[in-house]
Amino acid sequence: MASAPTLLDQCQPAAVVLNQPALPCYAHLHELMRRYQVEDLVNESAAKFAARIEGMQRQRDSAGEGFVDPNVQERSAVDFHWGHHHDFGDFVVQGRMGKHHMSMLAVFIDELKALPLSLQGMRVLDIGCWTGGTSLLLAAMGATVVAVEEVKKYAECVTYLKHAFNAERVSVESKSLYDCTSAEFQDSFDIVLCAGVLHHLSDPKLALRILFNCLKDGGTCLLETVAVDSGQLVDLVTKSPKELDPNSPQSSGWNAMLFTPQKLEDLLGDVGFRVDQPCKPIQHKTPDARLFSVAKRVGHVDMRRAGLSVADIR
Ligand SMILES: C[S@@+](CC[C@H](N)C(=O)[O-])C[C@H]1O[C@@H](n2cnc3c(N)ncnc32)[C@H](O)[C@@H]1O
Repeated sequence: MASAPTLLDQCQPAAVVLNQPALPCYAHLHELMRRYQVEDLVNESAAKFAARIEGMQRQRDSAGEGFVDPNVQERSAVDFHWGHHHDFGDFVVQGRMGKHHMSMLAVFIDELKALPLSLQGMRVLDIGCWTGGTSLLLAAMGATVVAVEEVKKYAECVTYLKHAFNAERVSVESKSLYDCTSAEFQDSFDIVLCAGVLHHLSDPKLALRILFNCLKDGGTCLLETVAVDSGQLVDLVTKSPKELDPNSPQSSGWNAMLFTPQKLEDLLGDVGFRVDQPCKPIQHKTPDARLFSVAKRVGHVDMRRAGLSVADIR
């Protein structure tokens, strides 16, 4: 018997079904990740590294995250779950995002022509880095990367990987993107990558303005988020991800706000961005349709301010 349609069944029917490993740059990105294998360790022994990675994955910690009631929190913020697949050479860690970090960047490089293969000399802000797959990859492409992560144990994980592999171009900030408002974040980045985060946020408009402010004039925000086709903005704040995907292993906790391509373009315009190419839905992995967007900060302009949660945001 056919199962009942879920919200994700409303995803763009016209979405391209993409075989990311077939994209031209995928093999190159895959090769770059081989810089982070046990044989490349600089500041750690192979044995200690394996033990530490194994130990991280047994972390069950809610108090450290500051949660009063862990039962209402997202499980992957209470327990440690590895984010991106990582072949460390001696052993492989399967991440919940699989090889998403490589396939998603491949879309921005090959499909959308929004990201050069060499990021030499560029400063990149990587929002919601989880266990660091995108941050390490962007650094291997030549960028200086500031990785931001609100879950403390993941920020610690990426800090450890940076140290172990002496990845000097990566720095990690254990904080929410909503706190990226201090002077060192302003007008500072050539690229902001916000992948897999926007649909989890309580206040996406404020978040997009903060990211806009982090960019230099001429800088680019690369956005990737879960999408829907119908309605304007489907607001499921604090509802279970099971409503999005009955097969989801997660039980509770994430905010979930799904965007249509038009709604995302409107929001980006409202906060000051210029969107040159339409937000593009791509069937990234079943059953998620992912919306890709490339938004430019041409110059620092004012934003639409009616109803803002933080009135004095720059
Ligand atoms: C689904 S993962 C995406 C990981 C990675 N960016 C990618 O696309 O492969 C979302 C990550 O964003 C983090 N996150 C969610 N809200 C955040 C916020 N307000 N500030 C910083 N990180 C956040 C989560 O803890 C999680 O690690």
